[in-house]
Amino acid sequence: MEKKLSVDHLLGIKYLTKGDIELILSTADYFKKVLQQPIRKVPSLQDTTIANVFFENSTRTRLSFELAEKRLSADVVNFSASSSSVSKGETLIDTVNNILAMKVDMVVMRHPNPGASMFLAKHVKSKIINAGDGAHEHPTQALLDAYSITRKFDVPHLKGKKVVIVGDILHSRVAISNIYCLHRLGAEVMVCGPTTLIPKHISALNVKVEHNLRKALEWCDVANMLRIQLERQDIKYFPSLREYTMMYGVNKQLLDSLGKEITIMHPGPINRGVEITSDVADSGQSIILQQVENGVAIRMAVLYLLSGKSTIGG
Ligand code: CP
Repeated sequence: MEKKLSVDHLLGIKYLTKGDIELILSTADYFKKVLQQPIRKVPSLQDTTIANVFFENSTRTRLSFELAEKRLSADVVNFSASSSSVSKGETLIDTVNNILAMKVDMVVMRHPNPGASMFLAKHVKSKIINAGDGAHEHPTQALLDAYSITRKFDVPHLKGKKVVIVGDILHSRVAISNIYCLHRLGAEVMVCGPTTLIPKHISALNVKVEHNLRKALEWCDVANMLRIQLERQDIKYFPSLREYTMMYGVNKQLLDSLGKEITIMHPGPINRGVEITSDVADSGQSIILQQVENGVAIRMAVLYLLSGKSTIGG
């Protein structure tokens, strides 16, 4: 297996090789063991400063990156657009260059515009990690999702596994990154949702398309439920949330009627009672909190590997 990533930045899964993904997952295995020890910390990045630059709301990704950085002993600074000089008209490049002038080595950025992290990587001298850019990509989410599936089934790759991504595919960076990542690891991928929320040319990505949720669930081993991203929708894509739930929400009764047990995932935040009921989200079939837990190890692996350090302990 390769020992170094083929990329200098993590901008999207599209730009990673299968070897890159396998290296990140196996490195996450090491860090997961670190996180299970009494002292959940290693000195690997103790001479590294990382800025978390968030232009869009986040709970899981921001906290997970910050914890990952602290567990690696990095120095951490946090920036959120709502309390910054961006509101006074400063450009993205000027903002980040000012942060870098304070001797920051890596920038983790979430931004509402697709391609923002790519733009930044071309214009500033720092390692850039995309923490979600509009409807483009959310690479660490896809990596932690793939890692969670391999750990759930205790398998080294996803060959033969069938994963359906359900919901608002049209506005979802999680769906796109998952499709690339799952394919690289050998899984079969289906998308399921109303016609209006499935991009017209999605089959060019070699995914199956199904509009009937029951048929999709009967086909899959794993269902990754997405929320409706109302914040990215400027028109109505379906008559009402109630009707969406009737057609595309998972509930215990539906799962129990399948005659087999499938694994339920969700990247969060959950809209309980819309795409997923509480009795499913909190059930033994759900690995939603394991996804969150695995996210810290995955982000430690990404930060460590991009830093270019040669020994994992320090
Ligand atoms: N999954 C995810 O990106 O969640 P946050 O928006 O809370 O970071």
